[in-house]
Order: sequence, then C-alpha cells, then structure tokens
Amino acid sequence: MNGAISDNEAFLSDLLKLLERLDLGGVICGIAVPSVYLFQFSSRLVDNPFLLGSQDVSARKDNGPFTGEISAKMLTEFDCSFSIVGHSERRENFQESNEDIAKKATQLLQYGITPIVCVGENAVLRKNGDAVAFVAGQIDELSSFLSKELLGKCKFAYEPIWAIGTGKTALTSDVREMHTTIRRSLVKNIGEDSGLQIPILYGGSVNADNVLEIMSEECVDGVLVGGASVRMDSFGDLLEKAVNRLH
Ligand code: PGA
Repeated sequence: MNGAISDNEAFLSDLLKLLERLDLGGVICGIAVPSVYLFQFSSRLVDNPFLLGSQDVSARKDNGPFTGEISAKMLTEFDCSFSIVGHSERRENFQESNEDIAKKATQLLQYGITPIVCVGENAVLRKNGDAVAFVAGQIDELSSFLSKELLGKCKFAYEPIWAIGTGKTALTSDVREMHTTIRRSLVKNIGEDSGLQIPILYGGSVNADNVLEIMSEECVDGVLVGGASVRMDSFGDLLEKAVNRLH
C-alpha cells in the first residue's frame, strides 16, 4: 500500500526516461501497483514493453454483488498482464488460504493474466527447521485446487516472510534449497514438462546492491522487489543492473 497520484507522476516520468535509454530486449520487467492507480500507470505505459500488474485480485467472477472487489475482468481494461496473488501480507492480514489464492489465480488465467503466486515460511518455521515441509505443503495445497494446466501457467515467488522489508536476505544456500523444493513440488504435481518451465522468482529485501548476487543463482529466474521499487532512484538502479546482466 504505497503511492499518491503526484508521487506516481514523478515516478512514471523518471521510469519512462530510463526506459527510453534502457533496452529491455527480451527481459520481462513490470510493476504491480495498487488498483486505484492502474488507470494512471496504464495511460502512461501504453505500448511500452514494461508490464503493468496488480497487487491482488478478487476470487469472485467478473461482476456481481461483491462491493469493493476488483475482478480479473476489470484488470484487463488496464492492460494488466500479471497480478501478485497470495502475498504473505494478504495471507497473514486477510487470512487468505491456498484455496482463495487458487481461486484468484483461476480468475486471472481466465483473462490471460499471469498470476505470480507467493509462497514462503515465517521466522518460526525456519527456526524450527520446518521451512521446506511448509513451502512444499503450500504448493501441494495450491495444486489440489488448480488443474495441472492452470498451475502450469502460473509463476511463483519464493518470499521468506522474515526477509520481507527487513533488510535480511536469505542465504544463497537457503535460496537454493527452497527454490529446489518449489521446483520438485511443481514437478511432482504437474509433471516435468511444465514443472521445469515455471519461473520461480525470489523476493525479500532485494535491492540494487544485492540483485546481481541473487540473480547469479541458477535456480533464481527473476526477482520480486518491494521496498526498493517504491522510489525510482533505487528502482532505476536495480532495473539497470538486472537488465544489463540479462542481456
Ligand atoms: P521487500 O518486499 O523487497 O521490501 O522485502 C518484498 C515484497 O513485499 O514482496
């Protein structure tokens, strides 16, 4: 929950300046904004390869008596190509279950919007040595509510809760172990053909200083950035480093 129309305007004008000189090539980059700002961002990013996404979506269908909800169908009007679902802040603060998250992913996929499904353990689970079992369980439960075909169209983000907004990033050995766990669970649930193709991002205190190290891990297919994406000075730096490395 960040943003204000005037701040967004300054952010967008700096972002567009950066995108004029930074050739994204095939690198997929985008920003997920609060839904009330989608109109503002979509009208400035028209025809730009930099993608627009939402931070959440309703689990309900299209239109109907669900005051305050924003459906996947509505997101299509703003050229949203992806949406975060199951962020730990939604799981924790709004008691979202894996079933809710699977319903949201289903709605998104019906409209060709890619769900970025977040999974990850909290500090207690990690301390007790339960991180692997917990995250594998999250994938298994999600899989039980989604067809293989739909699950194969999602992207995943490993976001250890204790690393979000704390300045602590996971050790590379932990990232490897957790990404491998997610990959194995996906393959177990939907088979090798699709399971090996699903991108798995890392999120949790990623910034311009650590992004290259994190991305140098073979198992990391991309990053999901929170705090460092709120201001263009830090986000611009991060984008430039990441995009140049992937070229
Ligand atoms: P952070 O947030 O980069 O500030 O840790 C990550 C997130 O909220 O997904």
